Amino acid sequence: MSLFEGHKPINAPVGINSWDIDPYSKEVLLDPTTFFDQLRSKGPFVYLEKYKMLACGRYGETKEVFSDHERFVSSRGVGIQDFKLEKPWRPPSVVLEVDPPQHTKNRRILTKALSPKNISLLKPFFKRSADTLLDELIVKKDIDAIADLAEVFPTIVFPAAVGLKKINKSTLLGYGSMVFNALGPDNEFRREAMNLGMSVIQKINDQCLVGNIDDEGLAQNIYDKVESGEIDQELAGMLVRSLLSAGIDTTVSAIGNLIWCILQNPEQFNKIKNDKELVNNAVEESLRLTSPVKAFCRTSSINTEVSGIKIEEGTKVLCVLGAANTDPDVWRDPYKFDVSRKTMGHLALGIGVHNCVGQTLARAEITSLLLSVAEKIEKIESLKMPIWKPNNAMRSLKSLPIRLFQNS
Ligand code: HEM
Repeated sequence: MSLFEGHKPINAPVGINSWDIDPYSKEVLLDPTTFFDQLRSKGPFVYLEKYKMLACGRYGETKEVFSDHERFVSSRGVGIQDFKLEKPWRPPSVVLEVDPPQHTKNRRILTKALSPKNISLLKPFFKRSADTLLDELIVKKDIDAIADLAEVFPTIVFPAAVGLKKINKSTLLGYGSMVFNALGPDNEFRREAMNLGMSVIQKINDQCLVGNIDDEGLAQNIYDKVESGEIDQELAGMLVRSLLSAGIDTTVSAIGNLIWCILQNPEQFNKIKNDKELVNNAVEESLRLTSPVKAFCRTSSINTEVSGIKIEEGTKVLCVLGAANTDPDVWRDPYKFDVSRKTMGHLALGIGVHNCVGQTLARAEITSLLLSVAEKIEKIESLKMPIWKPNNAMRSLKSLPIRLFQNS
């Protein structure tokens, strides 16, 4: 069979609209909301002519496909490439890109390492680090919320939390860019990220080795399982790598998007300042509204049917989480940033067996930061237009110049 962008090309199933849009074009990646609206309006699924695959963006179907790990597997890759048919660019993730029962076994080790108890011990460190960074930024006053804040905070606290002795910010950010852009087609964004080269992979793999892990961090919990004979050294390294792959770019994007939300909505920022109990929900609301992980794929493992549409085995389905999280049939006034909204059920952290295993850690980091911002900053003003960053799977900002006004 000849492949198309690394997957089996399918014909349009009966009863669905064909669409000539390119969801990986610069235009859509920079401003995806029109794409989200059109995608949902075209039906439960659309046929993407350019990629000979399906896409869904209504809440119901996106949730169904994304969470049904038996009919729609992750082991064939969560990007456009089908790992069953084409060799992936790096050894697949032992968590994100495997199915049960192997997934269940591997994930259990991460769940224990990232347990709420372990994360709660880190919260004071996150808050102290957020306070220190904010104090520095207040002195600067005019900052880029991405380069000075969103990219800095996670690259300080995350490697320390995991227990990485060797930390290199640009390697971590470069690797994140490769991991997420690699999920798309062979376009300029994927090629640019891949140009960083395999040396980045080597550096990341080295950072995950037992000799480069300290006794204090979360990764030590993973290496303890080697000592107890539960897993071997190689799997332990791969599990640590899965944290580095998924734990930096996501949080950087989420923090940048959150600052963008409060900048656009000063009245919502004031609400948070007046009632700090709203901090947690404000973080959830920004995740819902901006969905940093905008779209991941699944691959059908059998001939099946969803909402009356027949889907043949081997079909790649682009599940557009950003569209599902702004579906007006589920979310009233979906593009409004409303920190009092009931946010339960958003898909920004996934759903089903693959839901984000790092979510407690991510929430602890981001809420600590927002709390510090709400405590120390009176208001935030825009200095220049935000610049978004095209990325095949993420929705994130490249630059967000702002002025910080300190609490009097
Ligand atoms: C706000 C930040 C974050 C967002 C928006 C996010 C989003 C997601 C999403 C949507 C998934 C589901 C993927 C799928 O089903 O195919 C996922 C899975 C995952 N995330 Fe996160 N994530 C974030 C932070 C983190 C952090 C900090 C870590 C590491 C500590 C992490 C580690 C993982 C891993 C290992 C998986 C795979 C879980 C599995 O397959 O069982 N994530 N994340």
